[in-house]
Amino acid sequence: MSETPSIDRRKFLQLAGFGALTAATGPKWLFAAPNARYARDASPDFQADVEIEINAVVTESPILPGKPTRVWKYESKLLKGPDHTIAQLPGTHLGAVFFLEKGQKVRFYFKNDLPESNIIHWHGLHVPQNMDGHPMYDVPAGSGYVYEFRVDNPAGTYMYHAHTHEKTGQQVYKGLAGLIIVSDPDEKALNLPRGEFDLPIVLQDRNFDADNQLVYVQNMRDRHMGFLGDEMIINGKRHFVLPVATRPYRLRVLNGSNSRIYKLGWDDGTPLTVIATDGHFLEKPVTRPFVMLAPGERIELWADFSGRKVGSEMVMKSLPFSGAMPGHGEGGGGGMGGGMMGGMMNHGGGGGMGGGMMGGMMNHGGGGGMGAGMMGGMNHQTENTSKQEAKADEGEHGGMGMMSTSKMPQGSEYALFKVHIMREENVSLPLPQRFSTVERYERAQAENANNPRSIKISMMRMNWLLNGKEFEMMAASPEETVKMNTMQVIEFDNGYTQAGMGMGMMSGLPHPMHLHGQQFQIIERVIREDRRKDYETVSKGFIDEGWKDVVLVMPGEKVTLLKRFDDYKGLFLYHCHNLEHEEMGMMRNFNVV
Ligand code: C2O
Ligand code: CU
Ligand code: CU
Repeated sequence: MSETPSIDRRKFLQLAGFGALTAATGPKWLFAAPNARYARDASPDFQADVEIEINAVVTESPILPGKPTRVWKYESKLLKGPDHTIAQLPGTHLGAVFFLEKGQKVRFYFKNDLPESNIIHWHGLHVPQNMDGHPMYDVPAGSGYVYEFRVDNPAGTYMYHAHTHEKTGQQVYKGLAGLIIVSDPDEKALNLPRGEFDLPIVLQDRNFDADNQLVYVQNMRDRHMGFLGDEMIINGKRHFVLPVATRPYRLRVLNGSNSRIYKLGWDDGTPLTVIATDGHFLEKPVTRPFVMLAPGERIELWADFSGRKVGSEMVMKSLPFSGAMPGHGEGGGGGMGGGMMGGMMNHGGGGGMGGGMMGGMMNHGGGGGMGAGMMGGMNHQTENTSKQEAKADEGEHGGMGMMSTSKMPQGSEYALFKVHIMREENVSLPLPQRFSTVERYERAQAENANNPRSIKISMMRMNWLLNGKEFEMMAASPEETVKMNTMQVIEFDNGYTQAGMGMGMMSGLPHPMHLHGQQFQIIERVIREDRRKDYETVSKGFIDEGWKDVVLVMPGEKVTLLKRFDDYKGLFLYHCHNLEHEEMGMMRNFNVV
């Protein structure tokens, strides 16, 4: 059990595009503004091992060559604790990486210097309600919030991001997010790539204007579908290249995009070896030809470049998949096509949206065989044509055409980053065959084993609904009320059950569903027969063997999971991690009583 030497850490940070560590000084803003007050103050009873100051600021970042990009950023400074606790990321909109240890007691002095309200959520960590960054705790500009909690999670890759009421998508887009890397004694006992060989890869997509400034969603369609950018920005860099040696690496990949779903695969067909999912190690490594990664999900890869030729390169791509666009893959007249139209007639309100959507579908699909037509079109069109076509949709149908305006539509094929094999290095570091013991939950252990809490995903008048309801800040329905210290069976039904919805039309889009609080286990997935063909382009890339806090639910799919609600009473969010969907209200509370 050895501490990672900080010299390795520094080298690793340079490789991953990070800069030097900062020195600790006092919180510069603490008494700066006489009327600045914490909405929650530090508690004298909490003996912190680590203290970090986080300041949300408007600043600039040199993301592209030329003019710097205006971003919003969580700037951090270590006030107390081991000096490898935080690592800054210069030249990126991302906040610092926090390296925390299981069992550590952490205090964050958060100060909001943005022109609007803000609150931080620790995604994946199990903390009390008032430490979880629920939007009920938003603090106005000039105010702050002191967080104090013990890190209870095992070793893994987590993140923090803005969770402000109706502003999460736009704030995260501007840059308000960062990584948390937790380690524990069991992990330290494993023989794993460390220091410069243990690298974060944060995948994000962004749009820039001619002045290098960020451009967010432009119309209702983009909000409804979710934001899709034209440029991959990885660890805050465009055209990201990772220089490596001929040896194994641990790559911690976070999908930090607002709505883009990745199907990760190497260009030469080398399979991916997965060692951890959202919340911890798998029991043993799992090898797949490709891995799906939806917004908010993390995956840790064992990437072994041994035996590769120095000077050669590999490209990590997002491989093509289908079923992620509404109407895509549905034959005209049959199955869901008819159902969707019917649903729209019934619930779309006749005007704007219903007409717009059908218009969009007609334009691109011509009734039947829409999927193939659409994708074919995307692949062979120049970006200009497809943008013009999408624009034309907006004109005709009030911005509701379903064509993506992105150069890289959801499910198309594009490069993410390159790996350059730079030098020879011979190390003997065999892939461990066992990482942890994953206590497998049994359905019978759940309090509601025979009576799952079913959450149906639907849409009405362009609003996303969960069991027919929109977000309510302080409310939870009876089916969202759970007893503390119980295990629950929860189902997310994204149009698997067609009959008797009575609460809007089927969504027709994938939804990465995220639950705050403890990590859960996925026990079953079922797919509607008419969606199976699309589904098979993604389903082999689901890693359901381990601990999860986000699960991608495809159109026509129902996912069943088991989750515990231990330790803390109160309101804990669950929502779609497509951040445009979340911002529009595709979020509810579980009330733990
Ligand atoms: Cu990553 Cu409630 O969020
Ligand atoms: Cu979360
Ligand atoms: Cu969604």
